[in-house]
Amino acid sequence: MDNQAAIKKVRTKLKSAKSIAVLTGAGISADSGVPTFRGAEGLWKQYRAEELASPDAFARDPKLVWEWYSWRRELIATKVPNPAHEALVTMARQFPSFVLITQNVDGLHRKAGSEDIVEMHGNIWKVRCTKCSTMTDNHDLPIAYPPECTACGGMLRPHIVWFGESLDPQVMDQCMQALQSCDVLLVIGTSGVVHPAASFAMMAKGAGAYTVEINLDPTPSSGTMDTVINGKAKDVVPLLVS
Ligand code: OAD
Repeated sequence: MDNQAAIKKVRTKLKSAKSIAVLTGAGISADSGVPTFRGAEGLWKQYRAEELASPDAFARDPKLVWEWYSWRRELIATKVPNPAHEALVTMARQFPSFVLITQNVDGLHRKAGSEDIVEMHGNIWKVRCTKCSTMTDNHDLPIAYPPECTACGGMLRPHIVWFGESLDPQVMDQCMQALQSCDVLLVIGTSGVVHPAASFAMMAKGAGAYTVEINLDPTPSSGTMDTVINGKAKDVVPLLVS
């Protein structure tokens, strides 16, 4: 099916749908200029995300991990939402039930105006104390090192779910509910290799949803999707909104 036919088909599916779930990944923010994790600009210095975004990496070298997050924060602070983020704000108003689940920690969905976002992996603009677990908003640019908790003086860490850590059970419940009850699931700009998000499309499909992948390139999940649209999120997503 070519893209035009695929878009027409998805629009028809959306017309009769009451409940929509959307899962987004770094690809939706790539069109705003935020580098993806596994794309050509995915490396920071010589490190992959997996080598920095973990409790072990933080225990070994907190300064290095904070340097990476400071660099990402400074970069993200200069970026604005793109037409794909904006189209999802409009789409949310058109359905009785609409749940936006994102793996992104950049806050661009919120900046675009989306509400009730399920931020699976946390948020780069939040910090948490490694001692007393107090969580606060933090927009310091650059963030002072070592960042200290105002409540207890402990070292702060990014409020982000790292490799090897579990998702907040409440967040996981919200995801499961959305996946089990949606008529259509849109999977936008994710490589589909990081769990549990990687299995969300199969879960939704198993519960009867129509699954759509929007991605620049094919992914390991493409074969299991009902429809695949290959293109930039900023070009494709607005075409799905009436
Ligand atoms: P990845 O970097 O793994 O994948 C980005 C996906 O976006 C790829 O499949 C690209 O083909 C696609 N893509 C790139 N540009 C695009 C565009 N303009 N329009 C549409 N698609 C585009 O990012 P994620 O799948 O989000 O975890 O990665 C999952 C998690 O791994 C992240 O949340 C992060 C990372 O380590 C944490 O930070 C904890």
